[in-house]
Amino acid sequence: MKQARRRLVVPAYAKVNLGLEVLGLREDGYHELRTLFQAVALHDDVIIEPRASGVTIECAHPAVPCDERNLAVRAAQALLRYAGVKRGLALTLVKRIPVAGGLGGGSSDAAAVLMALDALFKLNLGTTGLYPIARRLGADVPFFLFGGTALGLGRGDEIYPLRRQIESQVVIVDAGRAVSTPAVFRRIDGGLTPRENSSTIYRFVSSDLDGSAAYQILTNELEKAAFEEAPELAGVVRRARTLMRGAGAFFASLSGSGSSVFGLFDDAHSARRAVERLRSTGMTAHRCRTVSLDRYQRAWERALRVAGARPTWSQ
Ligand code: C5P
Repeated sequence: MKQARRRLVVPAYAKVNLGLEVLGLREDGYHELRTLFQAVALHDDVIIEPRASGVTIECAHPAVPCDERNLAVRAAQALLRYAGVKRGLALTLVKRIPVAGGLGGGSSDAAAVLMALDALFKLNLGTTGLYPIARRLGADVPFFLFGGTALGLGRGDEIYPLRRQIESQVVIVDAGRAVSTPAVFRRIDGGLTPRENSSTIYRFVSSDLDGSAAYQILTNELEKAAFEEAPELAGVVRRARTLMRGAGAFFASLSGSGSSVFGLFDDAHSARRAVERLRSTGMTAHRCRTVSLDRYQRAWERALRVAGARPTWSQ
């Protein structure tokens, strides 16, 4: 096998959930979900340097563990083991995605490591080969092998990219509080009425995704439990949502199990205005845009060209 020597810097994009339905508790202890994932341009950087042996990680963010609890380290170890690569790695995370904020930051870092190592060590696993490794790492990891706009079924790890990709401006409000996803899921169990299928996500997906009317049917069924888990969150989320809608957002929602809130806007002017208003009330807000399947793939191709490699997209 050819040995890679280069230092590689790859993007790990955040996601938001456009609607999230919880259909019931599965036998494996996870919940059966229907959600629409959307990749957004807010991203961490993952820096990867080959070493003789061992996997190390550095990250300046105080809430990010710098040992095997970090999913990026587990991703690297899993892939090296799977492919029988007798090399080590030094990983550095430049964190911009709020930690434990419902934006999939840790999962995206892990998926980025998988895709980067596939290219760096010329393993040619591609999306199909990486998928089983990704889903063993966590339910949100497989989405980040694709990016763009995609339906998530099962545990949220069965990914179906949509032909029609959503293009919009995005404003993300960091509610400044970590929320534990397992704790939020545990809270919904008491009040959960199991049902066979989704009532809104499929209707939404089969609509043309145009116009704000289509978005009004989407709900995040984790919101109530997230507010019970973090009562001080309710006020912040409601204020941010109302403010974004007032500034022209055609959709605004909590992402995943929280705590981040996001709004989608047709134009940069309204998004900028929303950010100004949010900041003037003391909230932390970022403006970015959606990242379609195409853009996601191109960003990866650019990042990997440095290593003389190309991602093997199998979709
Ligand atoms: O798979 P991951 O470790 O990212 O999931 C975090 C936690 O969220 C799980 O341990 C589980 O408690 C909960 N979860 C769930 N059902 C899902 C996805 C996540 O109950 N479909």
